[in-house]
Amino acid sequence: MNVLSITPECYPLVKTGGLADVAGALPLALGAMGVQTRVLLPGYPGVREQLLDTHRATALPGLFGGDGALVEGTTAGGLPVLLVEAPHLYDRDGGGPYQADDGRDWPDNHLRFGALSWVGAQLALGRLGKWQPELVHLHDWPAALTAAYLQAATRPPRTQQPRTQQPPRGAASTAASPPNRGASRPATLLTVHNLAFQGVFPTDLAAPLKLPAAVLGYDGMEYWGKLSFLKAGVQWCDHINTVSPTYAREIVTPEQGMGFDGLLRLRGDALTGIVNGIDDTVWNPATDLHVASPYSARRLEAKAANKAALQVELGLHVRVDAPLFCVVSRLTTQKGIDLLLDAIPALYARGAQLAVLGSGDRDLQDALRREAERHPRQVSVTIGFDEPLSHRMQAGADAIVVPSRFEPCGLTQLYGLRYGTLPVVARVGGLADTVIDANEAALRDGVATGFQFSPIDATQLAVALDRACLLFADRLAWQRVQRRAMTRDVGWGTAALAYFDLYRRLIDSRPPT
Ligand code: ADP
Ligand code: GLC
Repeated sequence: MNVLSITPECYPLVKTGGLADVAGALPLALGAMGVQTRVLLPGYPGVREQLLDTHRATALPGLFGGDGALVEGTTAGGLPVLLVEAPHLYDRDGGGPYQADDGRDWPDNHLRFGALSWVGAQLALGRLGKWQPELVHLHDWPAALTAAYLQAATRPPRTQQPRTQQPPRGAASTAASPPNRGASRPATLLTVHNLAFQGVFPTDLAAPLKLPAAVLGYDGMEYWGKLSFLKAGVQWCDHINTVSPTYAREIVTPEQGMGFDGLLRLRGDALTGIVNGIDDTVWNPATDLHVASPYSARRLEAKAANKAALQVELGLHVRVDAPLFCVVSRLTTQKGIDLLLDAIPALYARGAQLAVLGSGDRDLQDALRREAERHPRQVSVTIGFDEPLSHRMQAGADAIVVPSRFEPCGLTQLYGLRYGTLPVVARVGGLADTVIDANEAALRDGVATGFQFSPIDATQLAVALDRACLLFADRLAWQRVQRRAMTRDVGWGTAALAYFDLYRRLIDSRPPT
């Protein structure tokens, strides 16, 4: 089975969050099942240097305002990668894949990810060399415009012009035109990792995207009088999946559909959820190279040395008996960091410690820093993105807090389970699907793996933190939950099998050529 996976980030080449982890690990897990995936990625600065055996495969003259090229290479882990090299689009001083250093989106993001999607569509149609995938897997809005290019290329253009007036509220999200099922077009799958990011741009930016009017209209990409790249994927992909079943159910409701619920309901038959896995070769406390003292469920006592080392590193009191909670996260309201700030007194009351690693909203960063200044031996805040430190935090902390208001899947709680760092999570999305609350029944039956709270507010978070502190004080009970958490299967096995079955079904249901 040949698959093209199109993504704006991919571990270990470029990462801002969980999408990179998934885009890097899923193809490797599927590889063991005979699926050959090539990952298409923008050629950001520094990415090509990390690849082995690179060579220029195809010239891409006049690619959205400049000349580009398709470069092939392989990661050290053996993942085949195709880079869209286009210096005018991707070579930037500083910043990340989506934003400049000042936190503002790159002003030409529609071109940067339009070009990625356009190249993806050409590959999908077999127009850039001999290779053609049987299935194209699109990740989030930066890849979703591929569906519009495929739709435009394989269906006769309509004469109808896009509507220019604002549709009535709700109307934009209830117009679905059927995916085109042209014979030369591979099967298509859109994975929605986070519905909050919709790739919305003013309609007057559409011209250089080279799309016919028919796909820009009301039953196309038009979204509340603008254009949404994500909507192209939701409209025209053969199937849409999210990264947990609970999130798939949440996003068809007006409360959590973020404007897309109507359209997602219309596509309800083609919408499912698959919980992410984690890459066991990268996240395993017994073999993790970033971890001072390797440990496992059987050698749990060796975790203590990691806690002491982390406390020293972060300037916290070195105390075995103080429960150490960590957070590794984007610092945003999605992630409920403001709730954590309000719930911190619950930690102080129990003599607990908090270590935060993250970056994001200025206000949240400042508030966290102030907290650390007031309680330097009890609270540590590291602003920035630091992959090795994220591993040391998972290994050294006793618990990880994920108080998200919404969470499509969440990976840090899965790493927490694997590292015996018990998750304290909001009961929402993928967090609800992956953590079993340590209530009396679950403790008695030996199935508890962490702590959940609901409704999602600071009061309930404080209650959950308090429950975690109380259980921590019962050493043996805590260790039983740790062992249970560490031996739960959170690898890619089950999820990769689910993707394999889905790929197979989508490929098999294509019309015969
Ligand atoms: P999201 O993708 O919504 O940010 P996830 O929990 O799915 O949330 O994935 C976050 C990923 O990014 C995890 O691999 C986590 O360890 C990592 N991460 C988040 N913030 C940081 C940071 N400041 N430094 C290092 N890794 C981070
Ligand atoms: C998104 C979501 C997160 C998910 C990740 C990987 O960034 O916010 O919940 O784990 O994608 O699918």
